[in-house]
Amino acid sequence: MSGGPSDRSSGRFDGRVAMVTGAGSGIGAACAARLAAEGACVGVLDLRAAGAKSTAAAIRARGGTAMALTCDVSDEKQVEEAVAALVASFRRVDVLHSNAAALDAAVYGRDRDLGSLDVGVWDRTMEVNLRGAMLMVKHTVPAMPDGGAIVLMSSVSALVGDEVHAAYGASKAALIGFTRYVATMYGSRGVRCNAVAPALVLTQAAQRALSQGQLADKAAERLLPWPCTPDDVANLVCFLASDEARCITGQTLTIDSGTLAHRPQHAVQRWRDLNDSAP
Ligand SMILES: NC(=O)c1ccc[n+]([C@@H]2O[C@H](COP(=O)([O-])OP(=O)(O)OC[C@H]3O[C@@H](n4cnc5c(N)ncnc54)[C@H](O)[C@@H]3O)[C@@H](O)[C@H]2O)c1
Repeated sequence: MSGGPSDRSSGRFDGRVAMVTGAGSGIGAACAARLAAEGACVGVLDLRAAGAKSTAAAIRARGGTAMALTCDVSDEKQVEEAVAALVASFRRVDVLHSNAAALDAAVYGRDRDLGSLDVGVWDRTMEVNLRGAMLMVKHTVPAMPDGGAIVLMSSVSALVGDEVHAAYGASKAALIGFTRYVATMYGSRGVRCNAVAPALVLTQAAQRALSQGQLADKAAERLLPWPCTPDDVANLVCFLASDEARCITGQTLTIDSGTLAHRPQHAVQRWRDLNDSAP
């Protein structure tokens, strides 16, 4: 996209106020940029001040409106203050995309074998991924007097098991249930709540973290030849946040290039290999 206000393609969010958490990088940054490009004033919230500032600056450089907010979503006081700061500037919130997750090496990187799992890793995963989403909803819904749209970030890790990342997967599964509760509690006030569940999204961090072999494994699991990019997820998040989705609530939409839509060929092949090598 080139710079300037003409980047605003459809104006689906003209005059609206959006809060995006974990917007300092990756998918959150792409969602914040898309919401702003379509007219929203965006609260760009992240634990890392530098990330929040850089996403907000990039939005402003394209003619959009953004406010950088530094906040740990697991801390209720910080969440309250961040929402209050956005409301003080823009009067209300129309869209919440709760996207932040603890994906650093100290938490996600140590969420491996359950038998040796440090309980602190489990707790921090739940604190950020689950309690963080709850706190954002709790403090944002009162700022949605005319209704609003909430999009929570789950994952395909909520829908299938794996040999690692039990804490992460459980936190993302809980968010699917939480989505239905929020949709039920606030539907009569015109607040919708949905979740998105991506498979591997090729953020810069994911591309750095995965080996060629791991990327090839993921490619073999997909039906489509192409992986999801942050912009693909932003398309779905913005659709769910827009009036085009006004009758959709309580749902979780998978976005995975067909990863979960078929029999798990990769696993089947592994079983075949194991059986072939059995004595
Ligand atoms: N990338 C993928 O393949 C993938 C797949 C499925 C789901 N997801 C989900 O998408 C979301 C974004 O992931 P990403 O790949 O863009 O990762 P990312 O690391 O680029 O983004 C996560 C952001 O959250 C922020 N954050 C972490 N802890 C925080 C806290 N306590 N308070 C506020 N902000 C905090 C980080 O600073 C970071 O900017 C996550 O919820 C992740 O679980 C990602």
